[in-house]
Amino acid sequence: MKILVTGGAGFIGSNFVRLILSKYPDYEVVNLDLLTYAGNLENLRDAEQNERYRFMRGDIRDEAIVNEVMAGMDAVVNFAAESHVDRSIGGPADFIQTDVFGTFVLLEAARRHGVSRYLQISTDEVYGSIEDGTFTEEDRLEPSSPYSASKAGGDMQVMAYHTTYGLPTLITRSSNNFGPYQYPEKIIPLFITNAMEGKELPLYGDGMNVRDWIYVADNCEGVDTVLHRGEPGQIYNIGGGNEKTNLYITKKILEILGKPESMIRPVADRLGHDFRYSIDCSKVKALGWEPAHNFEEALQETVNWYLDNRWWWEKIKSGEFAQYYQRQYGEK
Ligand code: NAD
Ligand code: TYD
Repeated sequence: MKILVTGGAGFIGSNFVRLILSKYPDYEVVNLDLLTYAGNLENLRDAEQNERYRFMRGDIRDEAIVNEVMAGMDAVVNFAAESHVDRSIGGPADFIQTDVFGTFVLLEAARRHGVSRYLQISTDEVYGSIEDGTFTEEDRLEPSSPYSASKAGGDMQVMAYHTTYGLPTLITRSSNNFGPYQYPEKIIPLFITNAMEGKELPLYGDGMNVRDWIYVADNCEGVDTVLHRGEPGQIYNIGGGNEKTNLYITKKILEILGKPESMIRPVADRLGHDFRYSIDCSKVKALGWEPAHNFEEALQETVNWYLDNRWWWEKIKSGEFAQYYQRQYGEK
């Protein structure tokens, strides 16, 4: 199988490319990525020598390049997106451009080239917040942030291309991922690396917001399951089943690193901050997928990865990230 992965130089995409190359010895992967601030070729340094892997720098909004790379592909898996809620609050334009318009460009090319699978990577955030209970794939979309609204816009187009043109589409909506190679703007890598650097941990509001955490390797296995066994036109929630408050996560990170809780700095809440995400994953489980990692062990492994790979994140934190951090949190 020849797979076009878009956004494969980001966090989840790079973990997915690595999984596919090792799991399927005869598969070929082309990775189309613009290398925005979040894209990093060092995430896939180990794949560079692999003859079945090819990187192409390019924008999913660019019709010409998208048509060029899509020729001869059997499947497309679209990870490419602007992905950080706080950045979407500061400036939504890129989110609409990439997550909505970029998805449209990919769908058009997939239709023209007759690909046999188009898989859109989406998020549980499209459903919005839920106080009690869990969302199924049938629930209505009620996104709260410019990020989740742009992802919902992408999903809507994917479904329309299935209904109208019969494009064999699939959508996965995963919960919050964590693991190696996650850009340190997201809470888990930010708090691990801040604690390692002796910096405070900026916790929004009262820290009682809940996210369902999934180890990135489990999500990638879920995406692979849906790619091979999912039914065209369907949506699959992929969650870890680990609902934790942000305060719990923060304390756990400090405990693992042997740092004091006095490093927590309560800061102003995020605008429109969703209180809780929760998804029902029985549909993907019926395809034979289950998360394989225990949350506490995976968090320990993730902390170990950041301890062992300072070369990877120290460069990032002293580059573009430094200006972002100052704007966002008002300190260096
Ligand atoms: P990321 O920000 O780490 O990576 C995004 C990648 O997309 C980067 O490599 C970037 O260079 C690339 N990209 C951005 N705009 C592009 C464009 N116009 N053309 C080509 N490439 C472009 O994101 P991530 O955390 O790996 O998330 C990947 C996908 O999974 C996204 O679609 C996101 O919405 C979704 N998702 C993420 C999470 C999570 O917890 N991180 C949870 C659910 C869903
Ligand atoms: P984040 O990692 O940005 O993922 P998402 O917003 O997509 O769920 O944030 C996860 C939770 O952590 C969210 O409730 C906001 C909170 N948070 C903080 O308290 N402080 C921070 O510095 C960040 C980045 C997030």
